[in-house]
Amino acid sequence: MGDQVKLSADGADLEYPVLKGSVGPEVIDIRKLYGQTGKFTFDPGFTSTASCESALTYIDGGEGVLLHRGYPIGQLAESSSFMEVSYLLLNGELPSQDELSNFEYTISRHTMIHEQLRHFYQGFRRDAHPMAIMCGIVGALSAFYHDSTDITDPEQRKIASHRLIAKMPTIAAAAYKYSVGQPMLYPDNNLSYTGNFLRMTFGVPAEEYEVIPAVEKAMDRIFILHADHEQNASTSTVRLAGSSGANPFACIAAGIACLWGPAHGGANEACLNMLREIGTPDRIPHYIERAKDKNDPFRLMGFGHRVYKNYDPRATVMQSTVREVFEALNVQDPLFETAMRLEEIALNDPYFIEKKLFPNVDFYSGVVLSAIGFPTDMFTVLFALARTVGWVAQWNEMISDPGQRIGRPRQLYTGPTQRDYVPLSQR
Ligand code: SDX
Repeated sequence: MGDQVKLSADGADLEYPVLKGSVGPEVIDIRKLYGQTGKFTFDPGFTSTASCESALTYIDGGEGVLLHRGYPIGQLAESSSFMEVSYLLLNGELPSQDELSNFEYTISRHTMIHEQLRHFYQGFRRDAHPMAIMCGIVGALSAFYHDSTDITDPEQRKIASHRLIAKMPTIAAAAYKYSVGQPMLYPDNNLSYTGNFLRMTFGVPAEEYEVIPAVEKAMDRIFILHADHEQNASTSTVRLAGSSGANPFACIAAGIACLWGPAHGGANEACLNMLREIGTPDRIPHYIERAKDKNDPFRLMGFGHRVYKNYDPRATVMQSTVREVFEALNVQDPLFETAMRLEEIALNDPYFIEKKLFPNVDFYSGVVLSAIGFPTDMFTVLFALARTVGWVAQWNEMISDPGQRIGRPRQLYTGPTQRDYVPLSQR
């Protein structure tokens, strides 16, 4: 018999099995708790709840460790590519050269979107937030791909996954083009996944677009840093939507909607706006005090994390990527100095030290994306583009689990107990 934990409830002594993973916290299997005690666990925000079993991504928040199928994010960011990391997340192992070439070829053959889908953009205002457009367009994909929405068919699941990974750059670039009134470009499959995206975003029909290798590499690395991250809010949204049997396009649209929030993926946009509001380093102390003031809703965007109570390893890589892009484009941005000074001051402030608040993946990403040329409202779109591979990998892992059931949490009810209806004439 494996380890057990004991629980005494209403005079009964109960035991629940402890399940061990390959690494990380063990879990207490409480699936029989309600049937045996008539009680639920209570964990709003899921601070102590494992919602599933997964073999994709492991995070040790205390040590600042992030592994994708066992490989450290720092090594993947340094030596891998987004396409290779996508293959790894989807298939569990690093690909051979042939496997990688075949995967890249397959993805490249799904980069176009249905011509009628381009008309959907016309329904939006030009100043619509591109995340609103992403929610609409990705959700609408299920109206075009009925041949890959049977989630019980592994082949259709694979095609839908490839379509989503392949089309996100095209959809995202088109959202940007629509916002600036420029023509949408078709994919050029002679380019890399990331080079294709950069050209569709910044290229114009009137001239050849030259992909700058250093920018392509930096963008590709940024995609790697955002690919997957265990059971974060948007991934949990995708899993919950998928647990009802919803088609994968609808599930990813749900994930995009959740990612948009400023507490989650929207923090990269909010962080750069915050840095712009702070402006110069001499104004940092005022904002640090505001962040510490319980009566002030202001928070340091790009700081803090539910899991990382040490440095977010992605932030480290992102900071060095800022320098690379500045050098490649021969640009500077005083906000980078402000960001580094803000980090230095915050990390030496007792409040941030006591609450273990460190920069997260969103703290520096805005500075580098802005240097590459993206407007602030495109930052979360880029996060969604990259996280799509994590979402579809997590969705596939869940759907292919024969024991999967619909997710249906319960509650602690604190509303009125039963009472009789009072006719209007008597109220
Ligand atoms: C992402 O989950 C993931 O993996 C997400 C992500 C991914 O890859 O999917 O990593 C991507 O979403 C990164 C996080 C981006 N969000 C932000 O940068 C927004 C700013 N940060 C926070 O709002 C906050 O830190 C969260 C949402 C990230 C985490 O929230 P928690 O875990 O619920 O923590 P909390 O809000 O309960 O904060 C704990 C304490 C609080 O003080 P007390 O009530 O204990 O006195 O720390 C304080 C908070 O007030 N605090 C902050 C702060 N973050 C937390 N104070 C000032 N500034 C901040 N940024």
